[in-house]
Amino acid sequence: MCGIVGYVGKRDSADVLVDALKKLEYRGYDSAGIAVFEDNKIKVAKSKGKLKDLIQKMDTEGKPQGTAGIGHTRWATHGEPSDINSHPHSGAKVTLVHNGIIENYKELKDFLVKQGRDFLSDTDTEVVAQLLDYYYAKIKEPISAIIETTQELRGSFALGIVFEDYPNTVYAVRRESPLIVGIGQGENFIASDVPAIIKYTKDYYLLEHDEIAVLSPNGVEVFDSHSQPIEKELKTADWDVDAVGKCGYPHYMIKEINEQPTAIRNTVTPRIKDGMPCLEECNITPEMLRGIRNIFIVACGTAMHSGMVGKYVIEELARTAVTVDIASEFRYRNPIIGEGDLIIIVSQSGETADSLAAMRLAKEKGAKTLAIVNAMGSTIAREADMLIYTHAGPEISVASTKAYMVQLSVMYLFAFELAYAKGQIDEDKLKYYTSKLLETSERVADVIAQTTELSQKISTKLVTADSLLYIGRGLDYALSMEGSLKLKEISYIHSESYAAGELKHGTISLITPEMPVIAVATQSALFEKTVSNIKEVKARGAKVIMICQEGCDISPDIANYVLRVPAFEEILLPMLVCVPLQLIAYYTSVQRGNDVDQPRNLAKSVTVE
Ligand code: G6P
Repeated sequence: MCGIVGYVGKRDSADVLVDALKKLEYRGYDSAGIAVFEDNKIKVAKSKGKLKDLIQKMDTEGKPQGTAGIGHTRWATHGEPSDINSHPHSGAKVTLVHNGIIENYKELKDFLVKQGRDFLSDTDTEVVAQLLDYYYAKIKEPISAIIETTQELRGSFALGIVFEDYPNTVYAVRRESPLIVGIGQGENFIASDVPAIIKYTKDYYLLEHDEIAVLSPNGVEVFDSHSQPIEKELKTADWDVDAVGKCGYPHYMIKEINEQPTAIRNTVTPRIKDGMPCLEECNITPEMLRGIRNIFIVACGTAMHSGMVGKYVIEELARTAVTVDIASEFRYRNPIIGEGDLIIIVSQSGETADSLAAMRLAKEKGAKTLAIVNAMGSTIAREADMLIYTHAGPEISVASTKAYMVQLSVMYLFAFELAYAKGQIDEDKLKYYTSKLLETSERVADVIAQTTELSQKISTKLVTADSLLYIGRGLDYALSMEGSLKLKEISYIHSESYAAGELKHGTISLITPEMPVIAVATQSALFEKTVSNIKEVKARGAKVIMICQEGCDISPDIANYVLRVPAFEEILLPMLVCVPLQLIAYYTSVQRGNDVDQPRNLAKSVTVE
């Protein structure tokens, strides 16, 4: 989704803005632009395409020169990606960039047209620029004009604003869409996310709904929606520049796959006390756990898939019913939830619009909410009743890997503690599972080392496929869903995941020698049954890639390739097996020459419905 940056200081602001926007590229975008104060006039440069297209344009047409400005990467919603629709947008005295969606833009536009205002673009953002300009022309004071304007807006917005009459000052305001204010020495910043500014400062304010920030090189003032100044708490990012660089890896995705052992350690270790999970710091107490009636795990994309694994694990160990829901479906299906129910919202970004709306709905209906979130201070994290942060560090690649891994690790911690609180497992068993979970960090490192070469080789066989099938049963099926999504997202090869036992009820008709099948068979209790399903597809000509535990006896006629992961506590195997699935997707994408980290049409943080 759109990325916003802003800068005031002494540096060449066009350079800083473009550099900061590069760090937000992961959010997904299709055009970019900046506005800079040049000799006290606002000069705009914008272009359809990637940041390199904007840079090229500035090379030929001239780069705005100045030390203050705003910048934007746009992910088109209202109007196609084009130079005209790119941000910034302007009125006579006002220029701004916007992330979010203005739901009532049509009626506001009609009003402004009646006032004689002309529009150049199809965007909802230009309506905001013109409306702010309209109020500014009347009131002649920026903060009051911003307040008047935002009172009229329905929907979500984070805005970076410059007024021609106030050179070298940047204004910012937000509602729903994220925005931070970076605090430097003699320079200050705004950004949609911390990676954009971490090179310059680790200190920042989180702007709350309808708060207005005013940035000059010498300081930042923040006002509430009644123009009253407010004190903000200074936050400090606890990771450094390396966390947002590629550190020698060709892509963020492969860097992040390799960061998984550390991410697991950082997430699990602080939550273990006396060999047992302890989530009291997250407001999760044994009394609360004992009172849970039903659990709903609600999320989108990869985060939802971590919930699929969570469902199998929680139901198996804690004998508590779990429903997994896609957030965009949950929120509109009038779910039967209420007191005694726990809604677990899983989100890497903590800003996904559908997940946030689902959480608010659950609260309204009287259910308790637990958020499992990676991005510190994000909206979902702030609004949930209970919160478990995953400590994956910043995830830049659009295709999620390490965030998924730590979401799994939290699902296990939670399931173990719930099972113990409900008397389904005793202390010895709890300690045993916990020790195994702690061990996963090393085992995942082993799996990365052991499966990279074969995954790479297997990907050469998939690169020309039009379509693929992932099959498995139980936990293996839950995991297959994520394997299939990963491949689709970055290789653009169609794939589906299917419960292996369900194949014969329809989908098996698709099997031909041209359709490779990836079969995950790691669970002993279901092994023979999955092997029978594999034989069914093999008999119909499919090329089979099988993933199983080391030591499994597999006759050569069953699979064309066998990828083995170390034998381990079976309930935890999804954390090991997801590694080769990630690697297969990664290498297939690389070989197809795709943009691995920023796949077409996708955005990392989806802040619109
Ligand atoms: C987008 C991303 C997916 C991600 C999903 C949920 O669609 O492209 O990779 O899994 O959003 O994001 P969240 O931040 O809520 O985990």
